[in-house]
Amino acid sequence: MAIQKVGVVGCGLMGSGIAEVVARSGFDVIVREVGEAPLAQGKKRIEGSLAKAVEKGKLSAADRDAALARMTFTTAVEKLADRDLVIEAIIEDLAAKRELFTALDALCPKQTIFASNTSSLPITDMAAGIRADRFVGLHFFNPVPVMKLVEVVRSIATSKATMAEVFAFVKRIEKEPITAKDTAGFVVNLLLIPYMLDAIHALERGVGSMEDIDKAMVLGCGHPMGPFTLIDFVGIDTTLRICEIMYEEYRDPKYAPPGLLKRVVALGRFGKKSGKGFYDWSGAAPIPLPLDGEI
Ligand code: 3HC
Repeated sequence: MAIQKVGVVGCGLMGSGIAEVVARSGFDVIVREVGEAPLAQGKKRIEGSLAKAVEKGKLSAADRDAALARMTFTTAVEKLADRDLVIEAIIEDLAAKRELFTALDALCPKQTIFASNTSSLPITDMAAGIRADRFVGLHFFNPVPVMKLVEVVRSIATSKATMAEVFAFVKRIEKEPITAKDTAGFVVNLLLIPYMLDAIHALERGVGSMEDIDKAMVLGCGHPMGPFTLIDFVGIDTTLRICEIMYEEYRDPKYAPPGLLKRVVALGRFGKKSGKGFYDWSGAAPIPLPLDGEI
């Protein structure tokens, strides 16, 4: 049976983008957050994004209203009991994800498909003992309304029927699916993380300034943003977490988090979302923050 009712758990940067895209594609969506404050914040983010789309002429006011009417916001996990597909986008922590899916397993019918938007945790580790045949990774990219790719991660236990249903769903939300093997980092982060870390190593070695390294990749290679801007955009804390998970899996130094990444996170500079990362994002244009104590 085709997927019709979707649940999105977690309404942060990724969850709100996923909920917006799914609702805009005509699906009934229930969005769940742990508390009223993050729920209200996530809802505001979605409303802001939809308003921007209307402003830019990409969406009619009627379609915005219809998308919002298809979305229900809740803190009650029980509301997800009638969903055909539940997409999880909570913190990148295996124990937290397993706890959530164990609760959902007791609530949802056996045919409900469980999906995780994890950027690097193996799906099998998350799904073991919890309907592993109806469990996939659905890895979206930031900003979700813009980026066309979704990595569909197939674990060694995911059934062919589940993959077919999920592929059809991804196409219905007008994204491009690819299949990725269930190994930490999948395809994109396997290639992207070493690139980001090499940029940090280059900065640490004084190969170039932060702005010049960013400029080099934008003007020399046609990337839409340089590596430091991209790390700030993804979230420095998120990038660090992905490195840790990949290093734990492969024990390959190329995924080991550089000291500078850890120090910036320790200072609470998580990137664009927190106002400061490698750049200061509080003004109209990002300003590179000095890393030599001269702030
Ligand atoms: N929501 C909706 N639309 C957005 C948006 C958002 N948050 N941000 C930008 N857009 C739209 C704009 O409205 C604009 O649309 P238009 O061309 O129809 O007017 C278009 O995107 C381009 O935006 P801008 O002109 O404002 O700015 P840019 O040309 O600099 O593009 C960007 C912004 C699309 C973010 C571009 O810089 C880009 O593609 N950057 C790289 C993003 C990337 O690599 N993402 C993947 C990160 S890795 C990841 O997410 C995986 C995780 O596991 C780590």
